[in-house]
Amino acid sequence: MKAIVQDAYGSADVLELRDIAKPTIGDDEVLVRVHAAGVDRGVWHLMTGQAYLIRLAGYGVRRPRNPVRGREVAGRVEATGKDVTRFQPGDEVMGTGEGSFAEYARAREDKLAPKPANLTFEQAAAVPISASTALQAVRDKGQVQPGQKVLIIGASGGVGTFAVQLAKAFGAEVTGVSSTAKVDLVRSIGADHVIDYTREDFAATPDRFDVIIDIAGNPSLSRLRRALTATGTAVVTGGEEGGSLTGGMNRQLGFVIVSLFIRQRLTMFINKESGSNLERLTELIEAGKVMPSIDRTYPLDQVPDAMRQLDAGKVRGKIAITI
Ligand SMILES: NC(=O)c1ccc[n+]([C@@H]2O[C@H](COP(=O)([O-])OP(=O)(O)OC[C@H]3O[C@@H](n4cnc5c(N)ncnc54)[C@H](OP(=O)(O)O)[C@@H]3O)[C@@H](O)[C@H]2O)c1
Repeated sequence: MKAIVQDAYGSADVLELRDIAKPTIGDDEVLVRVHAAGVDRGVWHLMTGQAYLIRLAGYGVRRPRNPVRGREVAGRVEATGKDVTRFQPGDEVMGTGEGSFAEYARAREDKLAPKPANLTFEQAAAVPISASTALQAVRDKGQVQPGQKVLIIGASGGVGTFAVQLAKAFGAEVTGVSSTAKVDLVRSIGADHVIDYTREDFAATPDRFDVIIDIAGNPSLSRLRRALTATGTAVVTGGEEGGSLTGGMNRQLGFVIVSLFIRQRLTMFINKESGSNLERLTELIEAGKVMPSIDRTYPLDQVPDAMRQLDAGKVRGKIAITI
């Protein structure tokens, strides 16, 4: 099969289109004939091997253990392992797999869900990691309630475009923070207010927020606390300026420790890749409350260009790879 592979960590230049063997699946795994793959920040981290902490987390210290890139997947079930009960060949699925920038990818049964009926494969491929991260930030960690004021920092990206729509779906009044070029996108997906961070500091406005979903920009502790209500919650979800060793985990852990001594709640989490979260997202998608924002699609051989576009910060919402 054709796949995008890399032998060493590095920039998009290390990625190559090659013919390799189809993956073999375990008893609890599904072989997916990939129709589309999503491009999320995590794939960039696995391509570059940055931050170094992820290498120690089992992805390969000197070079990628799995040379095939891509994790978000949408496609049709080709074959199932002997313990798989929820899927059969021919089913249309989406989820998180290993090596989705390829004609076939393997995925654990519990990380897959049926594809939403109203989405194309490209749209469905944008959901698994980005939308489920947003769901856990908004619903589980932020516990957003109707009528609350919610601030989404990084509202124009992969996670942020879902977070805005989810917070709206849960009845919040939503303010998104983005750069000038993406203000229109954030407004178009339903944000009630948009702050252009090149012109205005969210912490300098008189507004106080019940919940802040902090996805990008690495705001300082004092700026986050200033923008929160006295008992508000900040969910530290991501950020890219955190250094090459931990990628910002130290900042997040520091906030969690401070949270023990103050009335405001500062919390963080690692995305749990679960089929049940995807099923909840499917309900919201099929009800028309959430829709993936696809900037553009690329064919498999142009994955390096897609990664360069992501690296340059030019993507509005998400990009998908069509296979
Ligand atoms: N906790 C977890 O398990 C988990 C899971 C998935 C992702 N993440 C992390 O979450 C972060 C976002 O991921 P993603 O896939 O959404 O990335 P992405 O698609 O690249 O989006 C990031 C967005 O941040 C915006 N941004 C940059 N600087 C900003 C600033 N100063 N203020 C406000 N917005 C700013 C960019 O838009 P503008 O051009 O408008 O600035 C961009 O659209 C990454 O750090 C990723 O590693 C964490």
